Amino acid sequence: MNRRSAAEAYEKVPTSIFESSSAAAASLAKEVRELIEARNKEGKPAILGLATGSTPVPFYRELIRLHREEGLSFKNVITFNLDEYYGLGSDHPESYYRFMCDQLFDHIDIPKENIHLPSGTVPGDQVFEHCRQYEEMIDAAGGVDFQILGIGRTGHIGFNEPGSSRESLTRRITLDRITRQDAAADFRGEENVPRFAITMGVGTILRAKQIVLMAWGENKAGVVARAVEGPVTDAVSASFLQDHETARFFIDQAASRELTRIKLPCWWVR
Ligand code: GLP
Repeated sequence: MNRRSAAEAYEKVPTSIFESSSAAAASLAKEVRELIEARNKEGKPAILGLATGSTPVPFYRELIRLHREEGLSFKNVITFNLDEYYGLGSDHPESYYRFMCDQLFDHIDIPKENIHLPSGTVPGDQVFEHCRQYEEMIDAAGGVDFQILGIGRTGHIGFNEPGSSRESLTRRITLDRITRQDAAADFRGEENVPRFAITMGVGTILRAKQIVLMAWGENKAGVVARAVEGPVTDAVSASFLQDHETARFFIDQAASRELTRIKLPCWWVR
């Protein structure tokens, strides 16, 4: 059995392995560019679902390059981010709002009113209503055309920690210990990492028309293999992507190391 059919036999989500994260980011940016241009021609906005973390940074760099060097305009783009830390204002240096401005929004021509993130400062008694309105805004825009995802070491997408159901919608969630440990360096200590976040749900994410999950580096290899080859389970939220019609994984070589087609020799993969 060659490696392509090994992939088909074991991998339950189409998975592309790229030479490098920048090659993957360039390929993804090209697709997103085509979507934006196609929507422009139809006179309709392109609706993008965006992610934070270090993973999408090369993709955002490439979008900025396309804007600066090749004239790609984002005037007709509407964005919905996956999540925000609960308790952080938009001016907090570690807020996802700040991150998105620094990494993307401040460098392209997207109108401010087209940018949406959950609020990290909505009062506790208004969180439910805020989350309901976030869902409503996504629907009113026509739904997400292209959702970008990273993956946390707990297998989370957005901040859908283990235990999140397939039907879950935008809501406040308690962050997992591993997630808070992973964010500790950014906050100068685990004790400073917020305990809660507001995140789109798995169900919200699965409504997107197209989804690409990106993962780079060896420390994502284990969770990538569980999401791609393992059972669909709420223990690994990303495994729910196996049930989505068009979801794909874009990974680099290091993140592919635990996939059966890479890990086992050809004579074994049969
Ligand atoms: C956070 C974000 C996720 C992201 C994950 C991985 O938990 N909420 O959307 O996928 O971090 O982060 P990184 O890309 O830095 O590995």
